[in-house]
Amino acid sequence: MKIARFSRVGFILAAAGSAVGLGNIWKFPYITGVNGGGAFVFAYLITVLMIGFTLMLAEMLIGYTGRKDSVTSFETLAPQQNSLWKYAGFMSLAGLFIMIFYAPVIGWTLHFIVLSAANLPSSVEMAKEHFNTLVSLDVGTQIFYHTLVFIFVTYVVAKGIKGGIEKLNYFLMPVLIVTMGSMFIYATSLDGFEKAWTFMFSPDWSKLTSASLVTAVGHAFFTLSLGMATIMTYSASLPKDSNLVRSSLIVIALDTGIALVAGLTLFTFLYEYGASPSAGPGLVFVSLPAVFYEMGSVGHLFAFVFFVALASAGLTSAVSLVEPVIQYLVDRYSFSRLKASLSAGLFFYLFGIIAILSISKEYGALFTFGSRNFFDWTDFVTASIMLPTGGLLMSLFVGHVMQEERVAKILKKQLGLFYPFWYFSLRYIVPLALVIVLLNLVGILEL
Ligand code: TRP
Repeated sequence: MKIARFSRVGFILAAAGSAVGLGNIWKFPYITGVNGGGAFVFAYLITVLMIGFTLMLAEMLIGYTGRKDSVTSFETLAPQQNSLWKYAGFMSLAGLFIMIFYAPVIGWTLHFIVLSAANLPSSVEMAKEHFNTLVSLDVGTQIFYHTLVFIFVTYVVAKGIKGGIEKLNYFLMPVLIVTMGSMFIYATSLDGFEKAWTFMFSPDWSKLTSASLVTAVGHAFFTLSLGMATIMTYSASLPKDSNLVRSSLIVIALDTGIALVAGLTLFTFLYEYGASPSAGPGLVFVSLPAVFYEMGSVGHLFAFVFFVALASAGLTSAVSLVEPVIQYLVDRYSFSRLKASLSAGLFFYLFGIIAILSISKEYGALFTFGSRNFFDWTDFVTASIMLPTGGLLMSLFVGHVMQEERVAKILKKQLGLFYPFWYFSLRYIVPLALVIVLLNLVGILEL
């Protein structure tokens, strides 16, 4: 069977499509707002450059040299103990777990596309009430849009790397860049822009707590799609003689650029109409719709455009979250793409419904365990534990387990003078940083 590969541009679009997601447009602005702006942005940018770049290259290398699903790649690349290392490949399961909460949130964005085409809430109070009603009372609407997301994502991944994922990204990534770009250009003409700029780029170091540092590291992973074999799996379909360094730099630049543009645009709009930047998770679903209403007809148009952008960003990331498991089922168990896609899809669909129930008023108590409901648990366990653990395993694997000749053969030429720095960072700095983050998380080590 001939294996379909990405084209060069297709790979970059698909990897950037994976990286740029709800994390950039929904999560980044709100955690920046909650964590006080500049200092947090600074910590995030440093982590992206130091840890993000180093690890993205390592993850690409495993996929590119392994050429198979994540489990098989670890198994064939480990010089010894491969029956043990293959289990590292199961980090791909984290993608399905992420989809449990990610798919319902994409569903909200679809609901907001429809809402902004019809009528926007006319005040922050009404917007709040609308969002709260949707999330805590309107299980039916959420399940309806969740079902659409399930059907769409399953359909695209069933079509394969080339006919499904690459095509989707060829179409939606330009949509995303044009929509976010035009709103940004408009934002630069408003007075609020200067305030937004100051908020994001003038650090107030007193606001940088250890908790916000850990959030910054966790977010750097999440936003770059690292730590669960997405980039690895996509890289297995790279064309021969690809430049991994260039690809990863472009992906990181696009991802960071779009996050900063989204942050600046949203904060400009919020400042312009006197709303607060630190509204938390409801920022884009509560404060923003009310601001769009205030803006009049251009605001109505922007609301529609904004939620289309948000949904596009979410969908291209969603396919990348399920693809690693699908490739595993296809490579190891000879599943057809359709059967593999349906299995993976049904998994996140059904658990996603439980996540929706767990935030509802009526069923919430049933699905709340300890301090968190099921929805928040999946977010916490994946983003804060599984992704850093996946990152740690990959840095140890490429840095200490794979023979160095294999690594050097590909990356020495591409990295040139930077090769020794990269390799050192991968072997020592990244694992150390990740161990600190993980220990801090379980409360053994207080930063
Ligand atoms: N990066 C995406 C976002 O910012 C989410 C995502 C897609 C992801 N694939 C991933 C996160 C793999 C971690 C691992 O929304």
